[in-house]
Amino acid sequence: MTTDSFDYCVMGNPVQHSRSPWIHARFAELTGQQLVYGRQLVPLDAFVPTVQAFIADGGQGCNVTVPFKFEAFHLATTLSERARMAQAANTLHVRPGGIHADNTDGAGLVQDIQQHAGVSIAGRDLLLIGAGGAAAGVLAPLIEAGARRIAVANRTVDKAQALVARHAALATGHGCQLDACGLDAVTGQFGIVVNATASSLAGAQVPVPATVLAPGALAVDMMYGPAAAGFLAWARAHGATARDGLGMLVEQAAESFALWRGVRPPSATVLAELRALVDG
Ligand code: ATR
Repeated sequence: MTTDSFDYCVMGNPVQHSRSPWIHARFAELTGQQLVYGRQLVPLDAFVPTVQAFIADGGQGCNVTVPFKFEAFHLATTLSERARMAQAANTLHVRPGGIHADNTDGAGLVQDIQQHAGVSIAGRDLLLIGAGGAAAGVLAPLIEAGARRIAVANRTVDKAQALVARHAALATGHGCQLDACGLDAVTGQFGIVVNATASSLAGAQVPVPATVLAPGALAVDMMYGPAAAGFLAWARAHGATARDGLGMLVEQAAESFALWRGVRPPSATVLAELRALVDG
């Protein structure tokens, strides 16, 4: 198998619309780092050989997107604690003797909520909608950011319960009340509501009632563009501040870049540029 010759890349399927190459090119320009970051379409049955070929060609690290985050987690020889909690990896780093896996999605979301949206998570009640890979990637960092309560609501309750059980000790250690429920059984109001489901993508209704939104709530969809439009319109219609996943995208990329290069890029600048590009 051959891969294109990049130092870093994003691997996924599909991957042609990924903004990661643009984001990392700007990070490299603004920090004076010399690197080539590309995009690699990975056949659905060939994630491991594609990574191996990429490394054989001199690849130093990659971002991993849908649907390979679980395979990336299993491929790694060493794991960050947050990748271990998520049981999924969005960042691989080639190191002497092996492949290190990290998951920077949650740190990206926390950074976006706190720095860009200006909302502190500490002491807040947070509703996380969904219990798939996207939700799993962010739960531990949200607990660590000091939320008072996190309710994980999912269509399939068993999956929410399993995710919560895996994070129970972490939540107890941080004084966070963590619970799981079905979408029609959410109780209470939340200052922060995070949509980590694929429901907007499927064109479905927002799966929870608007009563979950506390006055002045922040409602974040982890997606952006048309995939987030339904949730954001719902949030605005019910008086919440709506925020898409573009800031999270840039911030998770910044975490990956820092891991690979030891240099933190100016993410706020790049987010402003990307916002202008996307909103046209
Ligand atoms: P991802 O990696 O994007 O999280 P996933 O692991 O397939 O993808 O998870 C998709 C999430 O969206 C799940 O929480 C899923 O609910 P189930 O666990 O019950 O399948 C949720 N989801 C997808 N379509 C949905 C819909 N129409 N209404 C509500 N939840 C939906």
